[in-house]
Amino acid sequence: MNLARIINLPKILDERGNLSFIEHNNHIPFEIKRVYWIYDVPGGEIRGSHAYQTLNEFIVALSGSFDVILHNGKEEMKFSLNRSYYGLYIPKMYWRKLENFSTNSLAMILADKYYNEGDYIRDFDEFKRIKANG
Ligand code: TYD
Repeated sequence: MNLARIINLPKILDERGNLSFIEHNNHIPFEIKRVYWIYDVPGGEIRGSHAYQTLNEFIVALSGSFDVILHNGKEEMKFSLNRSYYGLYIPKMYWRKLENFSTNSLAMILADKYYNEGDYIRDFDEFKRIKANG
């Protein structure tokens, strides 16, 4: 089963400052087609609230913290991201939203496809219907 999960990244500790990195197919189970980031989020705002039909993604809190709330059609789970040396892998067909952003937080999202509005499911009831029938 292809489940959403936290993936720890390499962490090179150094007195001069730490270093982490991501190599696609080595640390995350897909090839990166697109990188985007969410920043300057006003307090209390929510991003996301949709699912992708085919897109797989990996989310890292490069700075600050936020929560990722996932729904698999049956139950909800919450992941708090607050370090830059791990991230959350989210395969296709999870409802996902990002919330509780701290001041100056920076969310980096790696995706395995180019932006395609047609891949989005933006209606939660429709998402649950597809999961129930799927
Ligand atoms: P969207 O993924 O809908 O973010 P949210 O669910 O948090 O509102 O993206 C918001 C807008 O940004 C969307 O209308 C299209 C644009 N966009 C791109 O052009 N390219 C991208 O890679 C992404 C993620 C969004």
